[in-house]
Amino acid sequence: MCGIVGYLGKGYAQAPLIDGLRRLEYRGYDSAGVAFHEGNEFSLARETGRVKNLADSVQKNSSSSSLGIAHTRWATHGAVTVSNTHPHMSQDGKFVMVHNGVIENYGILKKFLVSKGIKFSSETDSEVLCNLIAYHYSELPTGEDRFIDAVRLALPQSRGAYGIVILCVDYSDTMIGARRGSPLVVGLGEEANFIASDASAFVGRAKEAVFLNDGELSIISGKNFRITTMEGEEAKAVAHPVEQISEEVELGDFDSYMEKEIFEQPTALENTLRGRFGDDGTTAKLGGLEGHEDELRNLDRIIFVACGTARHACMVGEYLIERLARVPVEVEHASEFRYRNSPKAGKSLVIAVSQSGETLDTLEAVREAKTKGLLTLGITNVVGSSLARETDGGVYQRVGPEIGVASTKAFSSQACLCAMLGLALGRMRDLSPTDGQAIVQALNDLPDLVTKVLQQGEQIRELAIKYSKAEHLLFLGRQSLYPVALEGALKLKEISYAHAEGYPAAELKHGPIALINPDCPSVFIVEGSSLSSKTIANMQEVKARKGPVLAIAPDNVEIPEEAVDDIFRLPVVHEVIRPILANLPLQLFAYHFARLRGLDVDKPRNLAKSVTVE
Ligand code: AGP
Ligand code: GLU
Repeated sequence: MCGIVGYLGKGYAQAPLIDGLRRLEYRGYDSAGVAFHEGNEFSLARETGRVKNLADSVQKNSSSSSLGIAHTRWATHGAVTVSNTHPHMSQDGKFVMVHNGVIENYGILKKFLVSKGIKFSSETDSEVLCNLIAYHYSELPTGEDRFIDAVRLALPQSRGAYGIVILCVDYSDTMIGARRGSPLVVGLGEEANFIASDASAFVGRAKEAVFLNDGELSIISGKNFRITTMEGEEAKAVAHPVEQISEEVELGDFDSYMEKEIFEQPTALENTLRGRFGDDGTTAKLGGLEGHEDELRNLDRIIFVACGTARHACMVGEYLIERLARVPVEVEHASEFRYRNSPKAGKSLVIAVSQSGETLDTLEAVREAKTKGLLTLGITNVVGSSLARETDGGVYQRVGPEIGVASTKAFSSQACLCAMLGLALGRMRDLSPTDGQAIVQALNDLPDLVTKVLQQGEQIRELAIKYSKAEHLLFLGRQSLYPVALEGALKLKEISYAHAEGYPAAELKHGPIALINPDCPSVFIVEGSSLSSKTIANMQEVKARKGPVLAIAPDNVEIPEEAVDDIFRLPVVHEVIRPILANLPLQLFAYHFARLRGLDVDKPRNLAKSVTVE
């Protein structure tokens, strides 16, 4: 789930490993550790809490080893304790291993190992895998390939997901990585080679990155490196320049990455939009869809699969695409789609949306769709991610690295790309050039409008001060603003830990209205259409029950004084960009709300940026 860095090089491993962990910190974790190959044994340092704790502890007891592995753990099996922190050492002291993911059949494997007399010192599934490799090693005859053979024997016995890097005490210049489900990338530099869960771990130290595919192993031995299949056949290694993969992630003048990412949305959206309109100014031109025109023109259904915020962006897409392209659209939680036996109705397209491109539930949904022979497209922010590589085509978001665990700019660009997709599909089917032109215009105006809304940030801060005592909040909206309500609630609960729920505005009276009281504010996101009067009626229902009401509403919608306590005004815009603009004050609201409670918005408790377990 979280961070892995392995180093084998000419210099000392300690600094690049700790630095690598720091660069992976944004992914969310609860403990960190490092192991060094010290000739005849391994040295280990592990701490719960921040990488800084680990750095302080390693500093006191420096290692001059040039081979080591490091890890930030996001606990799945066993509490957050030092003994559960990675790296794990096999009982015989021969191996140390770091693991991201979950070994589902660890119970059976553990029973087997216990029957062989092996004792365990942690509650983790990872220690089981490490000992299984050690067990096979102990059974194999000595020889050059003993280490790799032990890995190849053990891994197929495990079920579930892993990205691992493992060292063997008998091999002082070898590091082995293997992947199934959780990402791993090899970094090739002049002074050292790396294996990490994310290329940002070795930016500035490695020139090229080679991404592993599922079922592949990477063996770094001295200066050499190779990639093989689990069976031992050589696999193709495609090298990407590292600069293209990881861009600068400096905080600049901002207090947090979340704040920075909210305020860089105008530029982020300019990048998402740049060069993506047809010459006649009536349609969107998305390079990643080229070659699939006939399939797209003749679609019977689109199924979006995604998780969390990305799924909310897909729901915006559902409303827009159905309206613009007249194609039935469904949005599924990727984790549900994967196990659902959805009937294959006509020509379906599966679109997977994921900022990281590594969310396991989403990737598995894509794999399932491919098994059923469906065309798959990906919308992702991370170049070279698993999603980018596994889908038949796709579109990059181009918003730069998103570090804050709470997704902000990624949502805006995903919703923007969904609108562009709706436009492109609409123009292939029955949308008129005039309508197309109006949408192109609206999308081109988007970055400036985003700037305008963000300039009113101070008003949102004041509203957050007013409402920040609330422990329960409702977010309500209709049509394409319903997903915005869901997203507003998700953002707030993720980073402020206040309880918030999003509903379609009319759904209020079917249950949630029971929660309304003077301590439970409702945030209504009001549309600029004929439906606004219905939403205002829902606001009045809340006021009648003494619930505080905050409205986010376009300038031209009149709201009677008695229906509302506070109003944040938005510019009057085309419906395709309305959800993106309406979401901005909610991002800022959550941000200020959490900051007022003294919370670290970039590292919310229990959350990880990239969720590579089921
Ligand atoms: C967003 O604020 C969340 N942290 C989370 O819901 C996230 O959107 C989800 O885990 C999906 O991530 P992805 O876009 O990288 O697939
Ligand atoms: N399942 C492992 C554990 O709980 C690995 C978790 C992770 O991906 O960080 O230790």
